[in-house]
Amino acid sequence: MRQGLSVTDYLRTAAMSHAWLRRLHAYYKRRKMLEIAQMLREFSIVDKTLFRAQIIAAGDGHVNLDTCSIVVGSGSLVRGTLSFEHNDASLRIGRNSSVNNSNLVISTGVTIGDNVLISYGCLIMDHNSHPLAASLRQEDLRAVIEGRPKDWSHVKRSPITIEDNVWIGVRAIILKGVRIGCNSIVGAGAVVTKDVDPLMIVGGNPAKRIGSTYND
Ligand SMILES: CC(C)(COP(=O)(O)OP(=O)(O)OC[C@H]1O[C@@H](n2cnc3c(N)ncnc32)[C@H](O)[C@@H]1OP(=O)(O)O)[C@@H](O)C(=O)NCCC(=O)NCCS
Repeated sequence: MRQGLSVTDYLRTAAMSHAWLRRLHAYYKRRKMLEIAQMLREFSIVDKTLFRAQIIAAGDGHVNLDTCSIVVGSGSLVRGTLSFEHNDASLRIGRNSSVNNSNLVISTGVTIGDNVLISYGCLIMDHNSHPLAASLRQEDLRAVIEGRPKDWSHVKRSPITIEDNVWIGVRAIILKGVRIGCNSIVGAGAVVTKDVDPLMIVGGNPAKRIGSTYND
């Protein structure tokens, strides 16, 4: 501790410098995010959008971000991690929707409508990431170690659509090919493997109907 400084003054100074460092860190993180966003084929976020997501090009440099896209409508908030796993991956989010500290892992496309709420810690993944056959999975690891692109030909992948007014509860997982119908609700911790009809409430693993909601 510096001489002549009371403990309280020292703590106040330390707290201030930490706050300053935090702001600096946030500034550089945001700058880095914008640099990466500029590499995308299309990056469209309009006024009145809060975009604070980390964008990741997976595949050790084998994914071209310049073929991927992000479009977010007005009044929406996006926080979390957006990982592009394959060329031509796209994320479309409508108006007044919120993705709150969740992970979107995209190889083809994720489309989110208007007025959608996606809670904390959700995972939305439009592919299986690896083939079902063990020998082919081992080949994925060899490709990474040897710096080759991953072979996606045996990996099941299919776009995900989340329609207007859907509410997805905390830590839910949405898997490949799923369409979640408008106004429906996905319960906390659910694993959604199949389409959800409009106005349905689903929960559990695999997610099943546990109730229904209504239009007001
Ligand atoms: C388990 C898994 C690999 C199976 O993939 P798949 O063979 O393509 O499975 P399908 O999507 O065709 O589903 C087959 C059935 O299993 C069910 N199912 C699929 N995944 C499920 C899961 N994670 N939990 C519970 N049930 C599941 C489906 O509802 C379907 O049920 P049905 O027989 O009643 O129709 C896949 O669904 C999964 O969990 N993928 C994520 C893999 C992962 O975590 N990768 C991260 C990177 S390592």
